[in-house]
Amino acid sequence: MKDDLLEKIILDTVDVPSLPPIASKVLQLINDDFASITELERIISRDQAFSSRLLRIANSPYYGRGRSIDTISTAIILIGFNTMKSLVTAASMKDLHRQFGLFEQKLWEHSLGLSVAASLLAAETQMIQPEEALIAGLIHDMGKIIINNSIPESYCMVIERVYETGLTFIEVEDDMLGFNHCSVGGLIARKWKLPRNLEVVIEYHHSESFPGIEDNNYETLCQIVKIADAMCLNLGIGLRIPVNLSKIGFDQIGLTEERFYELQERLKRIYIEQKAQLLE
Ligand SMILES: [Fe+2]
Ligand SMILES: [Fe+2]
Repeated sequence: MKDDLLEKIILDTVDVPSLPPIASKVLQLINDDFASITELERIISRDQAFSSRLLRIANSPYYGRGRSIDTISTAIILIGFNTMKSLVTAASMKDLHRQFGLFEQKLWEHSLGLSVAASLLAAETQMIQPEEALIAGLIHDMGKIIINNSIPESYCMVIERVYETGLTFIEVEDDMLGFNHCSVGGLIARKWKLPRNLEVVIEYHHSESFPGIEDNNYETLCQIVKIADAMCLNLGIGLRIPVNLSKIGFDQIGLTEERFYELQERLKRIYIEQKAQLLE
């Protein structure tokens, strides 16, 4: 289908939400190695609700270490700049949902699990910065959130079909809606002017080929997200859908099947810890 026709169909069906302002600024900072703590602090401090949420996390037993943290800058120093960026992204992905029922909870758990899995794989292969993989994991299925917000009744039928038939989300979405969460996600990522690496992950994380992708690193990042996705679906983190492992290109990132299962075990442990920490 021609791109502009697809775009028209999507825009006629799905409304483009605005990205929570904090997330938008933080995501812009992500690729900026020189972004300062002061800048991050300034952005976060403007949002009262968000600030108090982050202080609560910083004071949780996981990070608290027995002292009380009452400013955002101390929280950033204590938790670390990178972790802080991912906490902001994780919380924003949760806020993006218009309603938060069982499916939304599952979707959020899926993205949290993926962020852990992708950063484990990145650290293992040393091909991508774990931090970059983590954010990519959090945000990869953003298109599903957007579709679910706009047309919840139809999307509910899509989900039921996925579970009944064992077909993939992409197959069922294309069939029932005429577009899928990757095309929607890609479109929104461009409207939001997200960094290009994230846009590519959102649009191509189910693709076999990467036409016109200018940077090999983006392809590697997609591959990592794809394998992380398989791990989470296997473990039933968030969503449980059978995955055909023979179709997963482990070797493209230099991974063996045996190592995949070892990392999957590690993921299970870390995920449980992380989830408890975020639910504080
Ligand atoms: Fe997906
Ligand atoms: Fe996914």
